Amino acid sequence: MTQTASRPPGTRVPLPLDVEAIRADFPILTRTVRDGKRLVYLDSGATSQKPRSVLDAERDFYENHNAAPHRGAHQLAEEATGLYEAARARIAAFIGGAVEEVVFTRNTTDAINTVAYALSNAATAKEPSFRRYAVGQGDEIVVTEMEHHANLVPWQQLCERTGATLRWLGLTDDGRLDLSDLATVVNERTKLVAVTQQSNILGTINPLEPIVARAREVGALVLVDGAQSVPHQPVDVATLGADFLVFSGHKMLGPTGVGVLWGRYEVLDALPPFLTGGSMIEVVRMEGSTFMPPPQRFEAGVPMTAQVVGLGAAVAYLQDLGMDRVQAHEEALTGYALEQLQAVPGVTVIGPPDTVARGGAVSFTVEGIHPHDVGQVLDDLGIAVRVGHHCAWPVVRRYGVPATTRATFYVHTGYDDVDALVEGVRAAQRFFGVTPEEATA
Ligand code: ALA
Repeated sequence: MTQTASRPPGTRVPLPLDVEAIRADFPILTRTVRDGKRLVYLDSGATSQKPRSVLDAERDFYENHNAAPHRGAHQLAEEATGLYEAARARIAAFIGGAVEEVVFTRNTTDAINTVAYALSNAATAKEPSFRRYAVGQGDEIVVTEMEHHANLVPWQQLCERTGATLRWLGLTDDGRLDLSDLATVVNERTKLVAVTQQSNILGTINPLEPIVARAREVGALVLVDGAQSVPHQPVDVATLGADFLVFSGHKMLGPTGVGVLWGRYEVLDALPPFLTGGSMIEVVRMEGSTFMPPPQRFEAGVPMTAQVVGLGAAVAYLQDLGMDRVQAHEEALTGYALEQLQAVPGVTVIGPPDTVARGGAVSFTVEGIHPHDVGQVLDDLGIAVRVGHHCAWPVVRRYGVPATTRATFYVHTGYDDVDALVEGVRAAQRFFGVTPEEATA
């Protein structure tokens, strides 16, 4: 994780990525919307667009290699298995993990539920080695108030199933984690700490080191939600020091329907399965079954093979760009967007006001205009943003707003996109008769 200095205001620093060349790789960016307007796509935080190499990889799989991996004695099955496992190896290398530590899931939500159900199933597991991390009555799970629902609701449900208690770290007024009570919230009863690396709504990049260190002191597991970090910054599991890292393919230029659960091998190996069925078994008898080691233990059924192959192509695309450059690119855009938006009277940024330890999710309110109305005006101009609570309802509640307008950036975003957004916000103010002067009155 990097902590970067605030950039000087009012400047368009040269962008590290060649935006025009990258845009040419994304077929969808050539289409127009709303009667011929250029598509200004500022919603990559919800889902990213896909470069041609990802679309080609999926098409090639179906046209030339389609078969169920790890089954079948024919050539296509062999090829499908090879492509599936090659993608696993590439993705493992991308995050610095071992191949057998990478489990394919449907998405981040699925990955977190896999861990949550493994922890509750552990209590009743027949196999004693699966009971090591069992969560039960009197145990505590710690999250933060910054989590999106995927990293909150499964833990609430785990607590309901087991009688454990959910605790959380709060937020500061400027959109950062409040770690002042870390030592008491994470304590000897804590079984697992689940924390996002980068907030989907505030953009905050969290300081994970003290959280991981405290969890280690009390013997708790740590799950890092990388849904918004892995697509946007270099992430290395050895540096993180956590036990689990989860992320989604569709937010990192890959297909929908595929995500990753990375787990420290020793921990994965001590967990019972969540979903059971074909592929994950060792021996099946009518009286009972035994299970494969990780990662197969957590991949029941015929997997989402074409999507995995597509995700491998997405990772290759990001590796070609370089994750350091992707992060620097978004930081430059974020700094510019924060300056430009905060210069518009009536606009309030919800989240850190500068680029220090901050990613490219910029949420804001416009005084006197509901975010849904802002979104409507922007949409009429061809600008796609997300409005609402962004699947992180406690966060908007914490900041006393019903919803926000959120712009998120990625590798094809340029200064022209940010300028369009800022001009669109001014257009919304004009449309609703909330002039800048009135907005600040
Ligand atoms: N968590 C996704 C978002 O932030 C859905 O939009």
